[in-house]
Amino acid sequence: MIIIKGDHDLRNYYIAGNWKMHKNREEARELARELVKGLENCGHTLMIAPPFTALTEVAAIVKGTNILLGAQNVSLAEQGAHTGEISPIMLKDCGVDVVIIGHSERRILYGETDDMINKKIKLALSHDLDVVFCVGETLDQREGGEAEGVVTAQVKKGLNGIDESDLRGITLAYEPVWAIGTGKTATPEDADAIHGVIRSLLGGLYAASIGDSMVIQYGGSVKPDNVQSLMSMENIDGALVGGASLKAETFIPIAKFDS
Ligand code: PGA
Repeated sequence: MIIIKGDHDLRNYYIAGNWKMHKNREEARELARELVKGLENCGHTLMIAPPFTALTEVAAIVKGTNILLGAQNVSLAEQGAHTGEISPIMLKDCGVDVVIIGHSERRILYGETDDMINKKIKLALSHDLDVVFCVGETLDQREGGEAEGVVTAQVKKGLNGIDESDLRGITLAYEPVWAIGTGKTATPEDADAIHGVIRSLLGGLYAASIGDSMVIQYGGSVKPDNVQSLMSMENIDGALVGGASLKAETFIPIAKFDS
């Protein structure tokens, strides 16, 4: 399949693996080693986000390679009496480059609000951590014709008070909740339409060029056999991959979808 480049000359493809609550330290080391080897000549921006308990071990393996280290969450406080939380300072100390914020599992299962997400994004940026900021509608919202409105509100609230100069550290990820872990992928056209809505919104909130230059990933059941059709869409610049990121044999072909 021929990949239509579109504005992807401007925006490098960014493929990220979210391991969620999977893998002990040994399994994490093994997968990280396989990925370093299998992706050494991949020119896309690459990131893997192991669970907190495996961060330092994976950091030692990806250090100096083309794979960024991600964390799956961060506290909205810097330090102090916050039982069970992990601060951005601790993440930096573990060698983390990027943090995923606002994932729908955090929003739905752990009650994260747009306001909390906004605070987390600001705090992460202030500690020099890049951010993958997730948005997406539920099935009920999509069926009720609210997808655009929900995503628009999430983007606006999440970026509230964030300066244009700080956007360099932020990647958006559109992840329709109904497509996560369900095997149901949004059609490339449906996904691209929401990506286009986000792009126009960004161009309105900030300078018009921001809408063209920000990287927007798609997430939700991305697999080796559907990645090319998604990446060929003009407004889709990468993938946030859950289930298929847990094995080298599925993540490597996704990350190297055009080679
Ligand atoms: P999935 O998860 O690829 O398993 O659907 C995506 C995500 O939650 O980021």
